[in-house]
Amino acid sequence: MGRVFVTRRLPGAALTQLEQLHETFVWPDQLPPSYEQLREHTARADALLALLTDRVDAPLMAASPNLRVIANYAVGYDNIDVDAASARGIPVGNTPDALTDATADLTFALLMAAARRIPEAAAFARGGRWQTWEPAGFLGADVHGATLGIIGLGRIGQAVARRATGFGMEVLTTETRDQHNLEHLLRRSDFISIHLPLTAGTRGLIGADALALMKPTAILINTARGAIVERSALARALHTGQIAGAALDVTEPEPLPEDDPLWEAPNLLVVPHIGSATWSARERMTEIAVQNILAGLDGDPLPYQVPAQLKD
Ligand code: GLV
Ligand code: GLV
Repeated sequence: MGRVFVTRRLPGAALTQLEQLHETFVWPDQLPPSYEQLREHTARADALLALLTDRVDAPLMAASPNLRVIANYAVGYDNIDVDAASARGIPVGNTPDALTDATADLTFALLMAAARRIPEAAAFARGGRWQTWEPAGFLGADVHGATLGIIGLGRIGQAVARRATGFGMEVLTTETRDQHNLEHLLRRSDFISIHLPLTAGTRGLIGADALALMKPTAILINTARGAIVERSALARALHTGQIAGAALDVTEPEPLPEDDPLWEAPNLLVVPHIGSATWSARERMTEIAVQNILAGLDGDPLPYQVPAQLKD
């Protein structure tokens, strides 16, 4: 039996399996443990099942002598110091595949909602202002036939590209390292969607310079990580009409503070990081995270170990 700290209640039955096999403490609150609480509970644990809201850093690992495995309940793992874990021989797991299609679906939902001004139109209809059918009411952008620029062509980027084909879109893709190709994509695309992990190399990638290359009709969609976009530059680009709109599932920080200037920007749609929020994706994520914990406690290779640890 090992001691497992799970930092939130998770959907699906897999957590019960973990509770049957190991001494499992599940953080009971809706809000995450504070860093101090996280550290205190992890210090006693053999395994940590963490969320993207938990900062799992080197001092926390140093204070946790028994820790043998960390399983993140997310595909992204920028909340974990993977180098520190590797140095301690602690394997880190994530939950890829499970949420690829759910996140690609949400990307399209945001793209279409922004293009066709759905939140604004829905508020108008419900708000009692709908008087007649208007020839020039709520005109938006065509999705079919438009050019979609996909930055980052991992699983999710590829799943978005497959959806775009069904809409008859022209798809441009790039990885970040190819600066020339990225600039071409930024200049040409009607919709630009980000599907990169957050790393030192992608932080702030979409700042004032990148926004300046985009068309004034362009709409930016971010379902990856908020910090890839510089939010003050984005707010300015929306205010000045340098781009036409933005739809964000992720912000930096999360939640975006109530008084953040970005909230004042026009043509901005924000949803609270719900990319993987379907029943099946979240239940499958629980299964994968539990499999990673069970394997780590048994000293077996994790079924889903993070790519950063599998390199070299
Ligand atoms: C969600 O953002 C994830 O990385 O799974
Ligand atoms: C990760 O970012 C992925 O595309 O799966």
